[in-house]
Amino acid sequence: MDLFRKLKGLQIVKIIKMSGMYPFFRTLQGSKGNNVIHNNQQLVMMGSNNYLGLTHDTRVIEAAVEAVRKWGTGCTGSRFLNGNLEIHEQLEKELAEFFGYEASIVYATGFMANQGAITALVGENDYIFSDEENHACIIEGCKLTRGQVLVYKHNNMEHLEQLLQSVPLDAGKLIISDGVFSMTGRLANYDKIHALAQKYNAKTYVDDAHGAGTIGTGGRGTADHFNLKPDILMGTFSKSFASQGGYVCGSQELIEWLRHKSRTFMFSAALAPASAASALKVLQILKEEPQIVDRVRENAAYLKNAFENAGLDTMNTQTCVVPVFIGADEGALYICQQLLEKGIFTTPVVYPAVPKGQAVIRCSVMATHTREELDKAIAAFVALVDIVKESNQMASSDTAMADMLDSTDDISFENLSNQEASR
Ligand SMILES: Cc1ncc(COP(=O)(O)O)c(C=O)c1O
Repeated sequence: MDLFRKLKGLQIVKIIKMSGMYPFFRTLQGSKGNNVIHNNQQLVMMGSNNYLGLTHDTRVIEAAVEAVRKWGTGCTGSRFLNGNLEIHEQLEKELAEFFGYEASIVYATGFMANQGAITALVGENDYIFSDEENHACIIEGCKLTRGQVLVYKHNNMEHLEQLLQSVPLDAGKLIISDGVFSMTGRLANYDKIHALAQKYNAKTYVDDAHGAGTIGTGGRGTADHFNLKPDILMGTFSKSFASQGGYVCGSQELIEWLRHKSRTFMFSAALAPASAASALKVLQILKEEPQIVDRVRENAAYLKNAFENAGLDTMNTQTCVVPVFIGADEGALYICQQLLEKGIFTTPVVYPAVPKGQAVIRCSVMATHTREELDKAIAAFVALVDIVKESNQMASSDTAMADMLDSTDDISFENLSNQEASR
């Protein structure tokens, strides 16, 4: 079969574009964090991961500029060889201290951190237990290991325990979960995961991309919220840290292993100086001004309460991701477009990022959102409540668009089905 035959499967994208409801790759002509310019219209940004709103903080910008002046624009090589800068080591030291670990390692992206750490740690005779809604990069990491991957139902601790019982007690085992699930804002049952890990002699790995900076004492994340510490804590700089890059915290021994076995670390250029410097500055701000975490949480509570009072279903979120349940994929696209026209930038989450017929519109708050901005977003949603409710009625049906997307398996949204990882 012709290699390019599959490219025809993107027909659905053309159709959605023609309908004027294509919600992806929206070009921004300007950004101030809270506000962005799209098609000459100023929009309130309600769909970012910029939880602390620090991408435009002058202290962070100055730190990045200073790093470029001092170190140049790139490292042009791996840390392993020629690109190991003092600023990387300072960032690793301060991160480890902040999260309460012996050591940490920084990667060029969070995706690479997960892929690199999982593949370095899990060998042929080991087992991974992975939540079915884990992020795509965990799934990719799992696919690349030579170990066996067992996928447990989302946040379902009975199922996790059954799977743990099904493998030899003395086998190497890793339980891996997002701390905060990025699309629904749900929190992992980390206290239960931790207890099961103790019972079955497994290690725990938490991807806290969305928990760091938004939950736990002073933003120390999901496990800290439960007063516990996973064996391996992973995170990214591309959300609260207002930068780019990823990190893994653990024991000195573990980090030394990753420094010498993690291929995405060893065979890829080091984190750019500006990215390292901006993440470091955010870390320092978090330490000095922990009240910034309270601010983002207050904004999340304000938005969630207002949505719920208006009769919208926010899916019991406990975090700064505030989803609105829509149901039908077509409804999500339409409502997103309507929100855009009312000056609100949000993102739809449709199949396969969520199960069929369970589309949501993902809103996320920032510490820097003003009440005026949040009220504008609330008013826009309230004006669309009837349409949202109608779309909710279609929640359980398989929508035509979902079926079409299903057949175009080269469209990959943020979370592809984790079931694939077990194959
Ligand atoms: C849960 C989770 N893990 C990892 C990543 C990857 O992070 P990065 O953007 O740094 O590659 C993301 C990014 O969307 C994420 O949401």
